[in-house]
Amino acid sequence: MTNPVSTYIIKRHDSTKDQSLRPYSAADEYLLQEYHRIIKEPVPTAIYHDRFGYLSCHMHATKPTVVVTNRSQEKAISSNLKTNNLPSAIFSNPLTTVDEELDFALIKIPKSLALFELFLQHITHNSTKGITVVCAFMTRHFSPKLIEIAARYFEGVEQSRAVKKARLMTLTKKKEVAIVEPIDTVEYNGQTYNQYWGVFSAKHIDYATQYFIVNLELKPDYKTILDLASGNGVIAKEISLRQPESEIHLMDDFYLAVESAKLNIKGERIHHHYDNDLSKFGDGTFDLIVTNPPFHVEYEISIDIPIQLFRESHRCLKVNGSLQIVANKHLNYMTHLKSIFSRVEILSENDKFVIYRCRKADW
Ligand SMILES: C[S@@+](CC[C@H](N)C(=O)[O-])C[C@H]1O[C@@H](n2cnc3c(N)ncnc32)[C@H](O)[C@@H]1O
Repeated sequence: MTNPVSTYIIKRHDSTKDQSLRPYSAADEYLLQEYHRIIKEPVPTAIYHDRFGYLSCHMHATKPTVVVTNRSQEKAISSNLKTNNLPSAIFSNPLTTVDEELDFALIKIPKSLALFELFLQHITHNSTKGITVVCAFMTRHFSPKLIEIAARYFEGVEQSRAVKKARLMTLTKKKEVAIVEPIDTVEYNGQTYNQYWGVFSAKHIDYATQYFIVNLELKPDYKTILDLASGNGVIAKEISLRQPESEIHLMDDFYLAVESAKLNIKGERIHHHYDNDLSKFGDGTFDLIVTNPPFHVEYEISIDIPIQLFRESHRCLKVNGSLQIVANKHLNYMTHLKSIFSRVEILSENDKFVIYRCRKADW
């Protein structure tokens, strides 16, 4: 593989301050190289899991369908296209039928194997018989399960040699596979929760979340509540059962999480938001914000995103409003929270988890 130098300026457009985190990897470069090696005349093509837009920018001329799952991803791709004076992308998502049957697809393999499988199911039901799919991953992220999953959907599964610690897996001869609804169910506290493949904590409700639900503090005068980073909506659902009069908003960056939550919690007082920041909410909107915040995105661990969400939460809380956070103890958010809120207390803790209660003062 020659060493492709990006001809476009690609930035992450996220709140991370870690300069070592890059907007694309050798796996993205390898995918682009392979695309140009195989495809000489443009054919209907889709790109899956292009996190910040490296592929969308370099392939814009062939008008690919860009299948995204996160609002942050959509925003980063759009910003990078704009910065480079390129036209807007044609976005889709893995629950929607594409306009034209695909002949070719590129997948940057996500960390979630369930999401990888959802991508393959989406491709097999939106493509011609002769579809070729090229997937890329960093060799350190290889799992034999990738091959197992790929072989459920394709007869031909071939791996390339590794280049710059990245590897390709090329899939050909698609199988006839019946469509299944890509939803798992989880039981908790007498309720059944629906989860699209790839949504957080698929086998059981997360233990930190369970601890939070039992110990969070509710008051009848918490009229307007936000479940921030709401996943399948379990925290909001439990609150709605205890405070049916409250107006409850749920927000998540992951499209499949929001779509799952819509199946799990409905009603006149329930509002779903697919977003990755609080910019749509005015100052002083909420009495209570509850969150089990994200601290890793794909293989990257960073607390920059939750810290940014805590800052925005402060703005969006009413005076005397409360932000309640559950976290693994080792994350130690206390110092950061004290730099944002006038009063931070530990509401409850055990050997693994801690619940912080932060109050917004009137100064
Ligand atoms: C630890 S999970 C918690 C999910 C759910 N509240 C629960 O307890 O099961 C964190 C969630 O944060 C979401 N997320 C990540 N970054 C986000 C952001 N910037 N804004 C909103 N949600 C985000 C992820 O998609 C994920 O669903």
